[in-house]
Amino acid sequence: MYVILTTRPGVFKTELTDGLTAVEAYDYMLFGKRKAQFVIAKIEGSPRITIVEDEPPHVVNRVPSKFLQKYESIGAAHQELLHLAKFSSTDASLVRIEDEAVGRVAAGLVSVTFISNAGKVALAPANSNLLRVSLREQGGSPFKCGGGVCGTCKCRIEVGLENTDEIKPKERKHLTPEDFENGYRMACQTFIRGDVSVSWQPRPRAAP
Ligand code: FES
Repeated sequence: MYVILTTRPGVFKTELTDGLTAVEAYDYMLFGKRKAQFVIAKIEGSPRITIVEDEPPHVVNRVPSKFLQKYESIGAAHQELLHLAKFSSTDASLVRIEDEAVGRVAAGLVSVTFISNAGKVALAPANSNLLRVSLREQGGSPFKCGGGVCGTCKCRIEVGLENTDEIKPKERKHLTPEDFENGYRMACQTFIRGDVSVSWQPRPRAAP
């Protein structure tokens, strides 16, 4: 049997536990923005479903799986998702996630590609701070203060701008509305809810 696990970026995520195996995953897009992620998972036994709220204190709810709708096949679960997308809005769509990425998506990990650092790729938990991921994984994003003051961490989200959180007041001190339209953000103020690719201007060399 199969179940559909739902994650709402920035609101809650549903985690895989023993007895659940992810087989397919989809982004649910509304007006071009990713609003949810659905994982079709094979269910064995009667595991509890773990749902974790994204906002601190990250309340964890463990829901008996008997409350979840079960489907006899992957196709039946997929049909249900199509049905949901079709009736929610004419601007809604389901985008299938590549098979090789299903496991990490179901585990709540997102991918960050540091384009200006030879395309280095790092994985991080969803809702991570972009500059912290860069520091932890040696992504190479420039920074000084880490607190939205200096403006050094200006970067461009080349792919996945829809996977970043809302613009902060501190960013508006360094970036114009046109910058935001063109994908620029301050890495120290930006949290990522899905895969992104990021670039930045190389720092000018100090005069000899
Ligand atoms: S590191 Fe200073 S504003 Fe982001």
